[in-house]
Order: sequence, then structure tokens, then C-alpha cells
Amino acid sequence: MLRTAIFLCFALLGANVHAAESTYPLDPMKPNLDDKASLQRGMRNFMNYCFGCHSLKYQRYKRTAEDIGIPESLMLDHLVFDPNVRIGELMQNSLDVSHAKNWFGAAPPDLTLVSNLRGGPDYIYTYLRTFYEDDTRPFGVNNLVFENVAMPNVLEPVQGVQQKVCKDIPKIAENGGEMMDPLSSEYITEKVCGQELIERGYSPLELVSKGELSPKEFDQFAYDIANFLYYTGEPARMHRFRIGGFVLLFLAFFYVFTWLLGREYEKEYHS
Ligand code: HEC
Repeated sequence: MLRTAIFLCFALLGANVHAAESTYPLDPMKPNLDDKASLQRGMRNFMNYCFGCHSLKYQRYKRTAEDIGIPESLMLDHLVFDPNVRIGELMQNSLDVSHAKNWFGAAPPDLTLVSNLRGGPDYIYTYLRTFYEDDTRPFGVNNLVFENVAMPNVLEPVQGVQQKVCKDIPKIAENGGEMMDPLSSEYITEKVCGQELIERGYSPLELVSKGELSPKEFDQFAYDIANFLYYTGEPARMHRFRIGGFVLLFLAFFYVFTWLLGREYEKEYHS
């Protein structure tokens, strides 16, 4: 009993240390599984920029091709890079997890189900857009929603480089007013960087060197990846409503016969 309690304490502690939870508010994205073009672009982006490190090992190429409307031959020609892989296989990469752990300090997790964790697709969408330059980190970048992340910013060529904005902002006194120097009647300021800026209505990050895409185009790029991972999180979601309709129709139809049968039985009870 005591051992279990001690184990639980450590397990909880461990979970806390690892989570690197951040208070940064997530930017909402509305997933849309009817937008096949977005899902197709999302898969293209994923295979080109993420699949080298992150597998989708609970998802098959064939099922994905059918669901998001990519002809199998096109998928094999353009999105499956290993010529030995067949269309019916699971989407696994050739990354060796123990090597990856040494390279990055953490193994890149499988992302098939990641959209069901934490903030869902909003989290992925925000995460991809909030890498910023940080010289203290091994890869020179940090992230607003995943502090001290071990992933390099692989989308830097596409997005450009972001830095935390720092501003001199008037200090707030205890009574909520802005602090002023009584002699010079100038505001007393403090340097605020990044996250806290949001609360004061300033953007926490600014683009300091441009990438291949404009910020708006990059938002779409990240949206498409998040939308695609929302799909892989539960592919059945796409078909659920359609099947649900049939099931309800069937039940309605079946009810008539059950009712008729029930009526027959009832006759026997009372006779
Ligand atoms: C060079 C290898 C590499 C590439 C390429 C890469 N990642 Fe990562 N990624 C990592 C590593 C390593 C981690 C683990 C970070 C950690 O635990 O600190 C990670 C973590 C993540 C997480 C966080 C999962 C969590 O548990 O919160 C997400 C989401 C993610 N990556 C998405 C992507 C997407 C989307 C792409 C493509 C645009 C991508 N990654 C490309 C290495 C990579």
C-alpha cells in the first residue's frame, strides 16, 4: 500500500515535470473534414516536413487515400518516399527511436492520435506558429505553448524567424493605475517580453526575417496540418454521421416489426 502511494507520488511528480505546461492561450482553428483540399495539402505538408521524425503508425496509406480523396497511384508517386512501401501498409518511418532520443533529447512521438491530446487541433495549430528564436536552447528555438521543446523549428524556411517582442510598458500600481514618477511625472516602465504582452494587448512574437510564405499563407499551411492530424485522430468521424443516419432509419423500420410482434404476443397473454 505504502509502496503504491510512493509510486503514485513519484509518477505524478514526473508527469508534472515532463508536461512543461504553458499558460499561453491557444488560437482556435475550426477543423473541417469536408474540406478535402485542405486535408490533401495537410498530408502533403506532413509527409514533406514532419514524417521524417513523426510516424503515423495507426494509419494506413490506403485508408487515408480513400478518405481524403487522393488517387492511390498519385499517393504512391508523390507522398510515399520509400519505393518498397505498399499502399496497404501503416504509415511508419524509418527513424530509430533510441537514436532520435540522443539527437533531440526526447523521442519524436507518433502523431496519429495527437489531436486527441491537450488542446486538440488548436494546440497543434498554435504550436506550429509559436516557435521563436532562443539562443539558450540547443536548436536555437523555443516555443510559447511547449516550453523548452526538444523539436527544432522545421518550418523555419517556410515561416521565417520569429522573436519575442520586448516593450517598455508602464508599471501597474497596486490600485490598478499606471505608476508615475512624482518628480518628473514620467511613467515608470518595466521591460516586458513575450507571454505577458498578450494580457496587455500586444502581440508576443514578431517576424524578424521572412520565410517562403507570407504570415497569412503560413497560417493556412499550419491549419492544413492541424486539420489533417484532426482527421487521423479519428478517421471514422468522417463517416459517422452518414452511418448514424442509416442506423436510425434501420431502427425506425425495425420498430414497426417489433411492435407488430409485440402485439401478437400480447394477444396470447390475454387469451
Ligand atoms: C527533426 C525531427 C522533427 C521534425 C522534422 C518534426 N518534429 Fe515534431 N517533435 C520532434 C521532437 C524531438 C519532439 C519532442 C519534443 C519534446 O518532447 O520536447 C517533437 C514534438 C512534437 C509535438 C508535440 C507533441 C506533444 O506531445 O505535445 C508536435 C505536435 C509535433 N512535434 C508536431 C510536428 C509537426 C506537425 C511537424 C511537421 C511540421 C514536426 N513535428 C516535425 C522532432 C521533430
